[in-house]
Amino acid sequence: MNLTDSDKAMLDGAEGPAVAAAMDLLVRYGRALDAEHLCDVRNVAGTMTQPSPAKARLVAEGGWDKAYAVLNLDSDGDFAIPDMRVPTCQLQQSFGPDAAGIAPHPAHDLVQLQSDAESFYGRKGVNILATCTPYQVGNIPVRGEHVAWMESSAVVYANSVLGARTNCEGTASTGAASLTGRIPCWGNHRRANRLGTHHIKVRTRVTGALDWGMLGYFAGDLVQEERPVISGDLGQPDLLDLKHFGAAAASSGGVEIFHLPGITPEAPTLESAFAGDTVPEAVPYGADERRAVYEDLNSQGTRTDVDFVLLGCPHASLDQVRDTARLLEGRRLNSGTQLWLMVPRALRTTADRNGWTAVIEAAGARVMTDSCPAMSRTAPPGTKVFATDSAKQAHYLPAILGIEAWFGTLADCVEAAVTGRWKGELR
Ligand code: F3S
Repeated sequence: MNLTDSDKAMLDGAEGPAVAAAMDLLVRYGRALDAEHLCDVRNVAGTMTQPSPAKARLVAEGGWDKAYAVLNLDSDGDFAIPDMRVPTCQLQQSFGPDAAGIAPHPAHDLVQLQSDAESFYGRKGVNILATCTPYQVGNIPVRGEHVAWMESSAVVYANSVLGARTNCEGTASTGAASLTGRIPCWGNHRRANRLGTHHIKVRTRVTGALDWGMLGYFAGDLVQEERPVISGDLGQPDLLDLKHFGAAAASSGGVEIFHLPGITPEAPTLESAFAGDTVPEAVPYGADERRAVYEDLNSQGTRTDVDFVLLGCPHASLDQVRDTARLLEGRRLNSGTQLWLMVPRALRTTADRNGWTAVIEAAGARVMTDSCPAMSRTAPPGTKVFATDSAKQAHYLPAILGIEAWFGTLADCVEAAVTGRWKGELR
């Protein structure tokens, strides 16, 4: 792999042992992938604060520096961690102390560990956004910018909607990128790897988050780790629609980039999404396919008693918070049903000021931050059946928690929370 003089100097220790360890990791990573060189990144979204028993042991043995060396740099070295070299943010983590009494949480010492990690890494320059949607709270890379992000739903949004360039990175590669401002230039960093591979032609109505989530689930299942291009009479999607489309496509498959000709930035036309190559024969997405996806996502629900409703995956937009408040206003949740709405902490502040949090909580529901049931592997005690408006949570949570799932619109989910019964249907 070709290294610049600056890369070599970092590798040789000119900027200290932690940066040398970070560069060593990036060189090993790049060589394993046959990357020709590294590229500059000035935007890293990773995980430094997520608590675990292994991190607790490392902190007890050698402090926060040791924990970063082992977990974020894959190094056994004993060295001090310098400030982050480039802007870095923390993605979603575990529930914090303000979820006490709501979300069953691992041991108190892990909650404290996360709070201590926020203090330590925050001072090092890690912005504790604590959300899977950093693009909703001010971290918005521009088109063509190389970044190093984790979290599949954030990666697919960054690549496809924003036109930034990132692979789905990991804890160690983002830890090393934070200290060096470099990442191997392979995969989605290269234009040739961003072009469409499959063409899906929509022949049915696709409006709203439910439909965009189902279309994403269909696309991911079809293309797996390749790159779908979606054409048809789609109308104008918004942030919420594309957030749900990408998260679903990255759940049923491993989609990291998609194109919507005329909508997403790297595909002004259908032909350009394939770089002028022949457009592949279209796979239809019509009323039958739409119905089949809906039935697939609802195939794990047998009992209609709903114990738990989960909204805000990926973390909710302010529009979703507002819509939830309007649907709940003046109502009370069924006594045996809980509703959690996940939002980025920074948006919760606005929701509080708008009065939406008060309306939602007056109904007995909860507006929560930092994490989600899949990430924290938790749900209200005794949950056997849950409902969600997220194809991603419907895909993952039954496997993670061994519970049944119903998938439907936001209104279907709120109705289930108020009545305790699932009555959703595809309209
Ligand atoms: Fe975010 Fe959790 Fe969904 S991290 S994308 S709310 S599974």
